[in-house]
Amino acid sequence: MDELRSTAGLLARARRVVVFTGAGISAESGVPTFRDDLTGLWARFDAEQLATPEAFHADPDLVWGWYEWRRARVARAVPNAGHLAVAAIEARVPHVVVVTQNVDDLHERAGSRDPVHLHGSLFAPRCIGASGHPAQVTALADGDGPIPPPRCAECGWLVRPGVVWFGEALPEDALNAAVHAAARCDVLLTVGTSGVVYPAAEIPLVAARAGATLVQVNPEPTPLDPFCDVSLRGTAAQVLPALVSAAWDGSVQTSGTPVSAPE
Ligand code: OAD
Repeated sequence: MDELRSTAGLLARARRVVVFTGAGISAESGVPTFRDDLTGLWARFDAEQLATPEAFHADPDLVWGWYEWRRARVARAVPNAGHLAVAAIEARVPHVVVVTQNVDDLHERAGSRDPVHLHGSLFAPRCIGASGHPAQVTALADGDGPIPPPRCAECGWLVRPGVVWFGEALPEDALNAAVHAAARCDVLLTVGTSGVVYPAAEIPLVAARAGATLVQVNPEPTPLDPFCDVSLRGTAAQVLPALVSAAWDGSVQTSGTPVSAPE
């Protein structure tokens, strides 16, 4: 409890904060993580067959169908108290950058302004042609089996999910924005990530090397533990609202309409 209060004090005084999130922040919205033992996606599905350029080349219907299943699931999910607390932090600290590894849109729907998506988005399909331009996909399917991907209306190439696959580079703008923010923040809050997928997992370390205080929110230990100044053990939807309440005197919303950002 003392740790929560002292962390809240730090947050209340901070001018530049980075909130770095992973699948764990969306777990309480019903979106599965990747590496949790029983429920994680990689416990049930083979990443090699679903999340690589080679997999899409070998079986585009299987891969497109799997991402459509995930997209439909996310579309039905709603932001949880953890996402709302992140938006509340944004509304209270002068400079906040939310950097997420998640391909869902729950930060946006909770009221976060412009989250940096390091691993792309389920909602930004693009053409597999060389330019990789965004593709309009009008009728998104809602199934749980193989689905043929649509064709790009402009070039006729297949359309692919707008996510980063294993073996692919992260979007340069997103990575630069994340590194830039991490190198300048006072506090980096890492929430719900196992911290094992690079280069994304480098972001908290960039902040630590630059002298920021590293605060972790996770019910389990992670490889980031040795680098963290504080590890708050608990779920995002429990710990983050408590942190915001302790920092700003009980003014965080935990359900209902998202907290709006200041003008
Ligand atoms: P992981 O599944 O690797 O880790 C999820 C983390 O969330 C674990 O450390 C859990 O202990 C924690 N967790 C679970 N429930 C939680 C809760 N309610 N509140 C807070 N934390 C909770 O997910 P990521 O670290 O996001 O990449 O995975 C990183 C990347 O690996 C993903 O972006 C994805 C995946 O392969 C790509 O698809 C490129």
